Amino acid sequence: MASSQFQPIQGMSDIAAPDSFLWQMIEERARDIFTRYCFSEVRTPILEKTELFIHSLGDTTDVVTKEMYTLEDRGGRKLTLRPEGTASAIRYVAAGGDKTASARIYYMGPMFRCERPQAGRKRQFHQIGVEAIGAPNPLADAEVIALQLHLLAAWGLADAKIRLNTIGLPEDRAAVLNGLREAIRPRLHELPEEAQQRFETNVLRLLDSKDEAVQKIIGAAPPVTEFMCAETRAYLDTVVETLRNLDIDVEVDTSLVRGLDYYVHTVWEVVHGGLGAQNALAGGGRYCIQIGKNAVNGVGFAMGVERVIAALEAGGISAVQFAPPPPVFIVSLGEAALKENLLLLQMLRKHGVACEMELSARKVQAQMRRANKTGARQVIIRGDSELEKGIFVLKNMGDGTQSEVDLPELMKLLT
Ligand code: HAM
Repeated sequence: MASSQFQPIQGMSDIAAPDSFLWQMIEERARDIFTRYCFSEVRTPILEKTELFIHSLGDTTDVVTKEMYTLEDRGGRKLTLRPEGTASAIRYVAAGGDKTASARIYYMGPMFRCERPQAGRKRQFHQIGVEAIGAPNPLADAEVIALQLHLLAAWGLADAKIRLNTIGLPEDRAAVLNGLREAIRPRLHELPEEAQQRFETNVLRLLDSKDEAVQKIIGAAPPVTEFMCAETRAYLDTVVETLRNLDIDVEVDTSLVRGLDYYVHTVWEVVHGGLGAQNALAGGGRYCIQIGKNAVNGVGFAMGVERVIAALEAGGISAVQFAPPPPVFIVSLGEAALKENLLLLQMLRKHGVACEMELSARKVQAQMRRANKTGARQVIIRGDSELEKGIFVLKNMGDGTQSEVDLPELMKLLT
């Protein structure tokens, strides 16, 4: 069989030890922080009706037009592997009516986007996200940002930065598009052709262009907030002020745009210097999503776990640091001891000790080699003669010393 047949699909990865130790740390600390903020977990299906994403993310967004994994099931229904977590979470909330009107939920799991694989961009990636349901309130936005920074610090990423902006209200949109176009129009001829097309189709996308010529012209245009109504600007000011009161300094970056259509008011990204071009660790914002007859309002964010890991690794953190403590290994000499040791193995595990043993009657040297391989800190050696005397030989693999102990002593030393 060609070796490629053993590989996962391009842009998707197996996650195994030792890497999985780091994943577990990330998930455990996230659960701990979310619980302190009174968020509870929701696990929604990975497969949803395609229309859910078209309606909520927007039918002209890159995610919907180019990146979704969509399939037809046997009944001819169009289904999509979730490209993000918000739409499913909101579908769940909308189904619950009043019960979920002020839900505070979190989720973690795989998401799928058929993007061109490159550093920082995967086709199956993982998000850890939260959604706080409720009517627009700048204090709620600030609370969710504070939660996010708390979590980043718990992971060891206190140096991550927030870029904050406002998308404004739907009523602001025409004024923003108009204002931007008028500001750019006199210098339109200086823009590259592709940017000139964007000027017509989606002028907002010019704001986060990496092209220098575009950046120069955008830099000279008034900030988008200048075209927005007083209510929008006051909302943004209150978010920033509330964060300052919480000792959180954020910079408003009016060039920030988000790639999903459901946002209103506050939007933000978390960036980290340890990442390359794809430097967004997380994206978030306030949204209003229409599901059937219900409009659900909320605020939330999603962190990209692979990017969180890249940022941690850039800072010198490695997965082995989070490996569980080394196990105890049991070596048996003879059939009778093998049988008895099986009981000891289970007893130790029931007392919380991680341990392993060789289940076939192999030579002692082979068993010791395996003990070494497992990284065992202590080895219990018991053969028929120890069995008769009711003792155990306990070998410390660190310094090579060994002693004879009885059962109560063994338990005292190991538990
Ligand atoms: P998003 O900005 O599309 O927002 O994704 C959030 C994060 O997921 C990104 O900042 C990035 O870390 C990670 N991510 C996205 N695409 C990829 C990829 N192809 N490979 C690796 N990581 C990726 C959302 O998904 C919104 N649902 C966030 C949100 C929740 N807004 C409100 N509530």
